[in-house]
Amino acid sequence: MSVSPSAPSPGAPAAGVTARAPAKVNLLLQVGPRRSDGFHDLVTVFQAVSLFEEVTATPAEEFGISVEAVGETDVSGVPLDGSNLALRAARALAREAGITDAVHLHVRKEIPVAGGMAGGSADAAAALVACDALWQLRSGLDGLAEIGATLGSDVPFGLHGRTAVGTGRGERLAPVLTTATFAWVFVLATSGLSTPAVFAECDRLREVEGWADPGSDGRLEAVELALRGGDPQALGRALSNDMTQAACALNAELLGTLDTGRRAGAIAGIVSGSGPTVALLAPSEAAARRLAQNLAPLVGAHRLRTATGPVPGARVLEPVGTPKGS
Ligand code: C5P
Repeated sequence: MSVSPSAPSPGAPAAGVTARAPAKVNLLLQVGPRRSDGFHDLVTVFQAVSLFEEVTATPAEEFGISVEAVGETDVSGVPLDGSNLALRAARALAREAGITDAVHLHVRKEIPVAGGMAGGSADAAAALVACDALWQLRSGLDGLAEIGATLGSDVPFGLHGRTAVGTGRGERLAPVLTTATFAWVFVLATSGLSTPAVFAECDRLREVEGWADPGSDGRLEAVELALRGGDPQALGRALSNDMTQAACALNAELLGTLDTGRRAGAIAGIVSGSGPTVALLAPSEAAARRLAQNLAPLVGAHRLRTATGPVPGARVLEPVGTPKGS
């Protein structure tokens, strides 16, 4: 793709532009064999949920990043050097568009770090949208998603949001019809898991058991049917994640958390993505609040987040006080 800068208009934003992007949960995660490029072919259903990263891009002399925790999010594991995904996203967009200006990115993190909820990918998605607006590039969603896919498999979904089937390494997306809002309680683990380590453990375990062909066993159709019908009970029955066994092998507390969640009233529980966050599905938003109340004394209130999905993908936030339609 190519994107070209337009001359700054008189209405160009003088200060920063803020964009936000959502977390994701995988309603289905089918993992195929390891490919020659090291990635795994997936058949997955992503749902964007209402935990958000906010990224503010401000013109600066050189590229830089600062990170702020929202609430009790532990941001100690977030890199502040050139490896930071939001910073890589801003640089990649500048390179693609021939922009020689730099930005400072300020990230407000609400999504658990290394939690299997694509927080780093949401940072990249929000950074792409914020810089695209700041530099007035009008790259379009597909243009940004193409750059996003070079940064991480989940970045295109952070841009698109809502509910989507992901194939390839998760970057090829097709929207899925949903007729309801689903209510979730997320239980954060006490330590993070590395995605490559969970994929490697998955390979090791699956070598013993043989490979299923992703997408060939009716699980995708069951999830799509439950989403189309807007039925949380049917969705609860259809949730599945091929990485569960591997994540549980690397983090012994996960099986206990899944069991505690189900006993406390969840319809169903799954490991979110490669983990270690556990996603619990509730029958309604009120039921999710009650579920979180039941769980608070058992796991600690600081480890619980309630959220709903689907929600839209990365968007620019209008400054407070912007008149409607301006
Ligand atoms: O694409 P992303 O940067 O999120 O991937 C992180 C790591 O997770 C990859 O380096 C790879 O080890 C693993 N991965 C994979 N197959 C995928 C996605 C990720 O093996 N489809």
